Amino acid sequence: MSILFTPISIGNFTVKNRFVRSATQDYLGNEDGSISEAELLLYSQLAQNDVGLIISAHSYVQHPLGKASIRQNGIYEDRFIAGYKQVTETVHRYGAKFVLQISHAGRQTTSDLIDHLTPVAPSAVTNGVTGITPRELSDAEIQQLIADYAAAMRRAKDANCDGVQVHIAHGYLLAQFLSPYTNKRTDMWGGSIENRTRIFREIIAAGRKQVGDQYPILVKLNSTDGLVGSGYLSLEDVIYTAKLLEQCGVCAIEISGGMHEAKGVMAQPGVNTPEKEAYFAKASQALKKAVAIPIILVGGLRSLKIMENVVANGVADMVSLSRPFIKEPDLVQHLQHGAKEVQCISCNACFNPAGLRCYYKGGTPS
Ligand SMILES: Cc1cc2nc3c(=O)[nH]c(=O)nc-3n(C[C@H](O)[C@H](O)[C@H](O)COP(=O)(O)O)c2cc1C
Repeated sequence: MSILFTPISIGNFTVKNRFVRSATQDYLGNEDGSISEAELLLYSQLAQNDVGLIISAHSYVQHPLGKASIRQNGIYEDRFIAGYKQVTETVHRYGAKFVLQISHAGRQTTSDLIDHLTPVAPSAVTNGVTGITPRELSDAEIQQLIADYAAAMRRAKDANCDGVQVHIAHGYLLAQFLSPYTNKRTDMWGGSIENRTRIFREIIAAGRKQVGDQYPILVKLNSTDGLVGSGYLSLEDVIYTAKLLEQCGVCAIEISGGMHEAKGVMAQPGVNTPEKEAYFAKASQALKKAVAIPIILVGGLRSLKIMENVVANGVADMVSLSRPFIKEPDLVQHLQHGAKEVQCISCNACFNPAGLRCYYKGGTPS
């Protein structure tokens, strides 16, 4: 039997295989931020088709400043618990696990999404994509953020989610604290790597007070900003962060990379050869050597052989995919029954606010 179909423990729960549906914003939430019927169906389909661990779309912890896109789910009030409870009931019926990804947009949003306010960030560094200069967060606002993340963790637990995944990747607010490119603060929240990671320690400590010692807290972590040069996130800092997160009781790290200004790094286009696959594998291997908790690799996993090699050769403990599950929600079953690779061609047409589905119609991908 392929190693991909063997179980693994994460914190206090066991996943039946090594497949993770990586967090995927679906633009299908209700206008009020709650879970829609379409989302319930999407999660149920993935669970029915043997995805071991489903990570939700990123759900924002603070309204309105944390919102990153239209029709995004929120987790900033208790009224969101009911929708996620329905999701977990359904998903658990099929033997899958469900982890809620919690996030805040920080500087990666636009004023129209956040009630015409100015986006906030660790520092006032202009966003090269939107041209917007965010407002620097005050110390009191950082304390409020920590409380909001902790409350979001408690809501995830109340909704029977198997755990939460704190989003420290892709240039969103916590990744902005981590990167020296976006964090220019000179107070205790910026400067040294100890200071740039302080907010993570505080969030986990505050969360633990609400969810207890055993509740699984996972992290999705950037291995790179995706921009080259000094002044960006280094692998050395990433390894420091991974070790710190492990010490804080984080039970698994999913390794990714990129930010909006580094276009095409997070979800690389045209992954059509083995050489282009698993594009964060090197960082993953480095992290795997540095910590003992499970490492989950995401980014361009497209063939059964590469996925097996990743797990068998100690690059990561689990394989995580996003775009291929949009094309084939039943991908795990295909791979179990003879398929050698995914059908997704990484054309990236799925980044479409009209709602999550595969928009590829054949021909040359754009
Ligand atoms: C439509 C779309 C939405 C995404 N939304 C999220 C998200 O909410 N949170 C997150 O951490 N990553 C998000 N991602 C990134 C994926 O989780 C993943 O890291 C990336 O697509 C690379 O994996 P892949 O090659 O298997 O697609 C999204 C990707 C896509 C295609």
